[in-house]
Amino acid sequence: MISEFGITSKGEKAKLYSMKNGNGMEAAVTDYGASLVKVLIPDKDKKIQDVVLGYDSAIGYEKGDVYLGASVGRVANRIGGASFELDGKIFELTANDNGNSLHGGREFYNKRMWEVTGAEDNSVTFTIHSPDGDQGYPGNAEISITYELTEDNEIKIQYHSVPDKDTLFNLTNHSYFNLSGHASGSVLEQEVMIAADAFTKADEESIPTGELVSVEGTPMDFRDYKAIGKEIESSYEALVFGQGYDHNWVLNGSGMRTVAGMRSKETGIVMQVDTDLPGLQFYTGNFLVSEAGKEGAEYKKRHGACFETQYFPDAVHKEHFEGPQVKAGEAYSTTTVYRFSVEN
Ligand code: GAL
Repeated sequence: MISEFGITSKGEKAKLYSMKNGNGMEAAVTDYGASLVKVLIPDKDKKIQDVVLGYDSAIGYEKGDVYLGASVGRVANRIGGASFELDGKIFELTANDNGNSLHGGREFYNKRMWEVTGAEDNSVTFTIHSPDGDQGYPGNAEISITYELTEDNEIKIQYHSVPDKDTLFNLTNHSYFNLSGHASGSVLEQEVMIAADAFTKADEESIPTGELVSVEGTPMDFRDYKAIGKEIESSYEALVFGQGYDHNWVLNGSGMRTVAGMRSKETGIVMQVDTDLPGLQFYTGNFLVSEAGKEGAEYKKRHGACFETQYFPDAVHKEHFEGPQVKAGEAYSTTTVYRFSVEN
């Protein structure tokens, strides 16, 4: 189903695309920013819960700067010093985060209208043309993002591009999930699991030092489900630097696999995250202050948690970190799945 989703300050008419499956689950996405707007699922009492934070119309997405539901790129997360070298050339990016580049740095993909190049009952494909030099990155690229709602209650997100020059890609989805409902407040009592034996140590500006640190015996250990709030206020250095969880976990294994989970006892809703990528930024909304969200909701600190699948932050400056370089004419293709179920 397609409906109007507001008009941006540039006069662009945004649309909302709603997808339904046979199990009563629904998801909606908009062409403004290729953003995920709604995820509706019946909870253990058959009450419909919307478990993703968002805005009522494209205007909210245009004004907001906390990346609700956002498609982020070309390179999500941080590039130290906002520059990098590729094929012997230096590329300068915009320093928008303590002298570093965050989530593209400028002219963000989540602030653009994407073209709809495919719309079926259960999937929508958004495409943008990102020209050579866009945000400072080399190479022309048609970038497509396909959202699909499957009969297995999965929101499957596929990213694809073939650049015409060597470049960098690290696209992700920045949705904030709250499995007790988007307007229910803090997620600190909800539980999270991350299948990772280590995380990338970072400095005060969240730039990795290059060191992989074992999670064993630290508040970063999410190998078994535990409440997000259990150790979040600990004086462990990483948590002090991040003002809570805002780190990259070194995901165990490789290839498409389940890497994380979240669950709410209140609603019984469980979410599992699958990806083919090596890293996951688990971010607990530490910088949400007061965001006017959907249906009059006010989103504050730690009212949602993000599971941003990614190549490790600042990988372009760390030889032992995989990606995010992509060769001219080669395909950048990655998939992330958010799968929902309900426990009684
Ligand atoms: C996260 C990032 C946080 C914060 C947030 C946006 O991906 O790691 O530090 O910038 O995005 O508010």
